[in-house]
Amino acid sequence: MTAFLQLDQVTKSFGAVTVADELTYGVEAGEALGVIGPNGAGKTSMFNLITGTLQPNSGKVHFNGQDVTSMNAAKRCRSGMARSFQVPQPFSGMTVFENAMVAATQAAGLSGHEAEKFCLEVLEQTELLDRANTLAGGLTLLGRKRLELTRALCARPKLLMLDEIAGGLTEAECASLVKTIKDIHASGVTIIWIEHVVHALLAVVDRLIVIDFGKKIAEGEPHAIMKSPEVQEIYLGIEADA
Ligand SMILES: Nc1ncnc2c1ncn2[C@@H]1O[C@H](COP(=O)(O)OP(=O)(O)OP(=O)(O)O)[C@@H](O)[C@H]1O
Ligand SMILES: [Mg+2]
Repeated sequence: MTAFLQLDQVTKSFGAVTVADELTYGVEAGEALGVIGPNGAGKTSMFNLITGTLQPNSGKVHFNGQDVTSMNAAKRCRSGMARSFQVPQPFSGMTVFENAMVAATQAAGLSGHEAEKFCLEVLEQTELLDRANTLAGGLTLLGRKRLELTRALCARPKLLMLDEIAGGLTEAECASLVKTIKDIHASGVTIIWIEHVVHALLAVVDRLIVIDFGKKIAEGEPHAIMKSPEVQEIYLGIEADA
């Protein structure tokens, strides 16, 4: 049985470094999956493998009923997947609205009034409407995170991949971003969220996977996974038998 997004035995190495080690899991349509794991575990590489900016050495990726393993990144994006970047990558010299328009026209294929109307709707959803005419380079950290989210949503994704979008925010900022992500999920968008800010993640996701050295080492109900000895030892640095 192939899920909405399905990774089968996906393996990728850079020389001696294995960033994906026979990674196998599925994400059902409408689900929110959380991903945790130590720095350098291969989490961002996994997004690169899903979105097609990285090719696996072996294994398959299926998305929305199609084998996308050899499909290029632009085509995968048009088929309904979008991601935010761990390090925000806006066009700093363009306004927030112009950044949204680039995604809506290039990734979602909209044009003219339809594109503008859609961007304004997304900016309202991501609470950036009052910053629409601000240069992206002049945004606060929360603003830049919200713009990452906006750019991804302007591609009109069925699957939204978030890469450490809550890092570096204050508690209040994080809570406001969590609310926005919850609303996006409630609107029917499938989410995979890589995050070190675990309490933010647990407020949204239905299921959690843990990646270490490119390998999936645990998968299941989020609170149970956080309490498991593997996670305590590998993620929190606590000896399992301590
Ligand atoms: N293009 C590349 N060439 C060589 N090595 C790479 C490349 N991309 C990633 N790596 C290495 O692969 C490993 C996994 O990197 P990745 O960015 O996927 O980790 P991560 O789990 O996202 O870490 P973090 O939590 O710090 O963001 C790291 O050791 C990284 O240096
Ligand atoms: Mg990363």
